[in-house]
Amino acid sequence: MDYREELARAVAGAANIPAEDILPMIEVPADTEMGDYAFPCFRLARVLKKAPATIAADIDKKLKLPAFISGKKIVGAYINFFLDQQYYIRDVLLDVKQQGGAFGGSGIGAGRVVCIDYSSVNIAKPFHIGHLSTTVIGHSLYKIYQFLGYKPIGINHLGDWGTQFGRLIAAYKMWGNKEDIEKNSISAMLELYVRFHEEAEKDKYLDELGRAWFKKIEDGDAEALEIFNWFKQLTLREVSAIYDMLGITFDSYDGESFYNDKMQPVIDELKQKNLLEFSDGAYVVRLDEYDLPPCIILKSDGATLYATRDLAAAFYRKNTYGFHKCLYVVAYQQNLHFKQLFKVVELMGHEWAKDLEHVAFGMVSLEGGTLSTRKGNVVFLQDVLDKAVEKTLLIIKEKSPGLENKEDVAKTVGVGAVVFDTLSSARIKDITFSFDRVLNFDGETGPYVQYTHARCASLLRRADFDYTAEQKDFAALDNKEAFAVAKLLYAFPDTVQKACDRNEPYMITKHVTELAKAMNRFYYEHRIISDDRQATAARLLLADCVKTVIKTGLGLIGVGAPDRM
Ligand code: ARG
Repeated sequence: MDYREELARAVAGAANIPAEDILPMIEVPADTEMGDYAFPCFRLARVLKKAPATIAADIDKKLKLPAFISGKKIVGAYINFFLDQQYYIRDVLLDVKQQGGAFGGSGIGAGRVVCIDYSSVNIAKPFHIGHLSTTVIGHSLYKIYQFLGYKPIGINHLGDWGTQFGRLIAAYKMWGNKEDIEKNSISAMLELYVRFHEEAEKDKYLDELGRAWFKKIEDGDAEALEIFNWFKQLTLREVSAIYDMLGITFDSYDGESFYNDKMQPVIDELKQKNLLEFSDGAYVVRLDEYDLPPCIILKSDGATLYATRDLAAAFYRKNTYGFHKCLYVVAYQQNLHFKQLFKVVELMGHEWAKDLEHVAFGMVSLEGGTLSTRKGNVVFLQDVLDKAVEKTLLIIKEKSPGLENKEDVAKTVGVGAVVFDTLSSARIKDITFSFDRVLNFDGETGPYVQYTHARCASLLRRADFDYTAEQKDFAALDNKEAFAVAKLLYAFPDTVQKACDRNEPYMITKHVTELAKAMNRFYYEHRIISDDRQATAARLLLADCVKTVIKTGLGLIGVGAPDRM
């Protein structure tokens, strides 16, 4: 039930003003002591030409209170309303129980496609801690949109084009070893790459060699393509292991090279619309009017750029998927690139330019940089996840020696802790990753929320009767701790919608954290299983609903919720 709306209807009846006008005026006081809802009458003073206090008194006299309101209090020009706790708690719990895992979702996006470009790794480059945000934010958005009825399309826009691949092949031909690369894939490729750059400083001929190999890739030379595709395969094999750990899949791996034969029509359209200009040795779209540097489309030798490929990709996605929105989950370092890209589409006269959105985020760095030793100075994401799982396993062995399948749980909790932490603050903030903080079972962390979920599951297991079928005595929940829990359950669907509107998964992270805290306060103050069956049944229903919503919320940020830990 939408309580605010119902209340607006009641006030509307008494004030003789349409409910649609009243609804936006109803406030939720920051201090719950003041009431759960408040209606400020001074806003009506001008319309009704009466003093606000008089209006409040008039409305108060005629008002028929809905069943879920237990009391009201006039304070100055405000009428404050108090929810009937017991009524409200019962209503919310029965609703959550009935909807189960669907609670919080909706069909609002039905029939709409949302393309989400995320993770988008670069071939032969390490998958390092800097890729964590795009990967987990994008994955979470995928889940959130899906939960609201949209059809998300997850796109891994591979960085698989550019002159660096010519240099890499050249390096491989000179110094490479097939077995070594097969075995150590990305780090072996990285070694070759680094060596190439070092030697190229001394020997200019190497650059020429690199260019020649890239030309071969462009011309479709069989050997060049074979090596290049092999590098690509090995890279994808390595990153897939990480995606598996995170439970992530993609609908498309169409990356930069996919657009090789799809740029010409876009370039033709730019020419035809007189947007392309030759300037400083390149074909560009001028954007001075918008305070942006020119967007370079073609170099003088006809070579295309990152932006050219992204332009072709935007058109391809629009034509292929007919998207309602196309999101780019990419670090804020690329702000300028996306501003230019979107502007160019707009200047081409396509109204859907407004549906392209850069979902930017800040940097991730590692506290102390302790993981940087093994392979030079990059921090591999795989190492971070492995270490998190390893540390979690130690904690589990110490705290729950009797737990079955410790390894599986350690994986869910360890990986979950890293993901949860990454989605704990607004996207745009830079974050410093710290294992101690991430794995803390008492702080506002993934393990803490997962632990609360497992605690609820354990309570439900311990009940020796079918509490779902039992009569429930909701008076047992008539206390401020249960009320706080019910309010957070009730607000969950709204949070999911807001997280979607703003593309901010952290709002869900925060919500489940608050819910876990409220549940633990309740657990601390009230005994759950007692001799009173009907009271126990009501309290177990509360635990059941909390368990459901935590599980759903964690699922939406891509974190698992084990029943035991
Ligand atoms: N591969 C790029 C990078 O690592 C990110 C690509 C993002 N997506 C895009 N359509 N430009 O910086």
